[in-house]
Amino acid sequence: MQRDLPPLLESSIPGSWDPAIYDNFKNERRQPFCDLLSLLHPCPGARVIDLGCGNGELTLELHNYLKAAETVGIDQSSEMLGPTKQLGFAGLHFVHQTIESVLSGWSGNKNALPETSGKFDVIFSNAALQWLANHREIFRAIASGLVPEGQLCIQVPASYDHPSHSAVDDIMYEEPFATYFQDSTVVPARVDWVLAPEEYSQILFDEGFSKFHVRLQVYGHQLGSTRDLTNWMEGSLLSPFRAIFPPDIFTQFLHRYTQRVLEIEGDHSPYFFAFKRILIWGVK
Ligand SMILES: C[S@@+](CC[C@H](N)C(=O)[O-])C[C@H]1O[C@@H](n2cnc3c(N)ncnc32)[C@H](O)[C@@H]1O
Repeated sequence: MQRDLPPLLESSIPGSWDPAIYDNFKNERRQPFCDLLSLLHPCPGARVIDLGCGNGELTLELHNYLKAAETVGIDQSSEMLGPTKQLGFAGLHFVHQTIESVLSGWSGNKNALPETSGKFDVIFSNAALQWLANHREIFRAIASGLVPEGQLCIQVPASYDHPSHSAVDDIMYEEPFATYFQDSTVVPARVDWVLAPEEYSQILFDEGFSKFHVRLQVYGHQLGSTRDLTNWMEGSLLSPFRAIFPPDIFTQFLHRYTQRVLEIEGDHSPYFFAFKRILIWGVK
């Protein structure tokens, strides 16, 4: 059983993020960020926004790398934003806000916060937009938030057909888990929000980007064993379930998830995790 897609730009999944668990695979998660940076053209003095900035560590790197005048990181999770309080740096700000509200500001909503309204030279997002549905509308809104010659630079995971991700769809509508979704307006996981790479290039063309680069990249990670997929996904893909289930059911869910992954993948040690991601850069 799957639910209908939620309404446009009101679709994200309010996860319960744990920055410590997320950081367990910090080094593995860093490479796509570095690859995104290398796509950006220099633009010293720029006004930059990082959508879904997490703990802000990479936002600071982005700010310094671009020699930006002003960089604002936004995130919906106060837990993830917690460590940003230690990141005092000239021109760098963090705001507790959803990506949806930023996008609606760029699409004409007058109630947008001053920190995120107006146009940006660079709109950046690393591993966050996969939590939102309707990427066509999202990219249209992002295009409207860029100055002429402005750049977008975005990475989304594209591993929804990998057992680490597909195992969630296999088990989430089993009991006792399904009960918790019955009265919920939240759709806890979707396999099909991220588009194919060629669809992103079509969108950028349709939105009038003069140059763009879209690629699918496989990041290979050697993990201790297949079971480490649970630790990895607990820090990201599975975090919405922490917000939905009571703690004992969440523990049960993690256990069932591990079992399902092992059924599909086998119990290997070490385990090779081939993680597909899409990198998207464009200049207006
Ligand atoms: C996988 S983490 C990536 C964090 C950071 N960009 C990095 O590369 O380390 C995804 C982040 O997106 C945030 N997020 C997810 N959906 C969001 C939304 N609708 N609005 C704002 N932030 C969101 C989460 O709170 C989380 O911090």
